[in-house]
Amino acid sequence: SKTFRIAPSLLSADFARLGDEVKAVIAGGADWIHFDVMDNHYVPNLTFGPMICSALRPHAVTAAGQPVPIDVHLMVQPVDALAQAFAQAGADYISFHPDASAHVHRSVQAIKAAGCKAGLVFNPAMPMDVLDWMIEEIDLILIMSVNPGFGGQGFIDSALRKIEDARRRIDASGRDIRLEVDGGIKTDNIARVAAAGADTFVAGSAIFGKPDYKGVIDAMRSALKG
Ligand code: DX5
Ligand code: ZN
Repeated sequence: SKTFRIAPSLLSADFARLGDEVKAVIAGGADWIHFDVMDNHYVPNLTFGPMICSALRPHAVTAAGQPVPIDVHLMVQPVDALAQAFAQAGADYISFHPDASAHVHRSVQAIKAAGCKAGLVFNPAMPMDVLDWMIEEIDLILIMSVNPGFGGQGFIDSALRKIEDARRRIDASGRDIRLEVDGGIKTDNIARVAAAGADTFVAGSAIFGKPDYKGVIDAMRSALKG
């Protein structure tokens, strides 16, 4: 579906005030909350785990009390035990890097059996051949436009070709699969990312780096309208 979603990444939020940051960014118009899980093994950094997700789940609601999806991006190896813990912690989407799982199909089935939507994530230098076998099983493709591990990095342009490739695969499948992009997305490049075929946009430093979250999210939405 071509309805755009903006998913602020909590990686760039104030970790001392995470509940308030979730509420503030939802008040500013966030569609999803992107939750970056780093294990200091698959990536060289360490963030937060399922207990923090569980603590934030009640805060991720609109003013009208509607739940806002929590989009968990696992940068961990191995995948399966933490994926189950995040399903228990109230995650809506759980995505993992196929190169971090010995049995990708099994990991996806386990996420779906736990009641969550499942996604596969591709690093800048990773091919997407696994989609030849997995596209019928997944709900989301996440294209990394930076190397994972840190916020505030620059957008890697070769991701645009990767997004186009993923868009062709999704359209050929005829399935309802979200195409999300993560890394270096700003107000001034989001339209190019959408033109390549993305429909869901992670932004960390661009949103949390400014005092006015609504101002940035509104500017992103108007850039998407063209
Ligand atoms: C990087 C994370 C991203 C990161 C994006 O490993 O997966 O979600 O927070 O941050 P920005 O938008 O600052 O590039
Ligand atoms: Zn991420």
